[in-house]
Amino acid sequence: MSRVAYAERRYQPHAEAVTPIEDRGLQFADGIYEVMEYFNLHILDAEEHMDRLERSLGEMHMPMPMSRKAMLHMLNELVRKNVRRHGLIYLQVNRGAGMRNHEIRPMKPIVIAHILPRRTPTAETYRQGIKVTTAPDIRWGRCDIKTVSLLGNILMKYEAAQQGAKDVFIFDEKNNLRESSSSNIFIVTDKGIIATPPRNHHILPGVTRIHVLKFAAELGIKVEERMISKEEVMNAKECFITSTSAHVLPVTSIDGKKISDGIGPVSKQLLNHYHHHILNITGEACPIL
Ligand code: PDD
Repeated sequence: MSRVAYAERRYQPHAEAVTPIEDRGLQFADGIYEVMEYFNLHILDAEEHMDRLERSLGEMHMPMPMSRKAMLHMLNELVRKNVRRHGLIYLQVNRGAGMRNHEIRPMKPIVIAHILPRRTPTAETYRQGIKVTTAPDIRWGRCDIKTVSLLGNILMKYEAAQQGAKDVFIFDEKNNLRESSSSNIFIVTDKGIIATPPRNHHILPGVTRIHVLKFAAELGIKVEERMISKEEVMNAKECFITSTSAHVLPVTSIDGKKISDGIGPVSKQLLNHYHHHILNITGEACPIL
């Protein structure tokens, strides 16, 4: 078996893994997911991802489908059974399957997991940074819960792609920054302070975000978690996004306005710090700029 998935409580060939047609994940997007990276067969930040999974499930009134220990054992087995040494783990927990009904009732949770190739940007992309557009938020009001209900995100990203951009910066009705379609956003101000929107119901509390805040503190850089206006974003000295798959990725153009010439010094320091973090966990060096 070259590509192995976990479904129906067992490991099976990816192409044969299925879910019932009355899975509420299909009918109501009634499911929670996590994307974790593994490197050199080590799952990165597994405890932080499990913390967030438990929190998301709790907010949806869903139980953990198995103990944390059993879940981590299953994910490690999945990594071991697949051929890739480095990759992403996609994990989804749906409420269960049953006749379509809007009521929330206790059900047997459905757990699906499989492996995806790593999507880390190329060294060239890290050096040059990416272009983004901006858009008002069209998503629901609980983006802090990592549900599979991502239609707003994919529609906004589609519009950005139509304009030749890699991602979209999402703003609230007062033009304050939220996050991007699949990452958290940071700016470096003209005073050299790092700022990022605060945790609330409108952004996903990113695992990478937690680390970047910690790295910045270790580097002695002042950090502010606060509201950031569109004007401030457009006039930032540096800007970068953070996510499990992209790590720390510079944004060098917003709606056609240049922010910086390639990766800035603060973004570079934080990206290098992130690579050291991977090295510390896995014992294997990740390419450093
Ligand atoms: N992105 N905000 C949104 C809307 C996301 O979908 C993600 C995750 C993040 C960053 O979270 P983390 O640092 O825990 O990955 C923020 C997907 C899973 C990704 O691109 O990897």
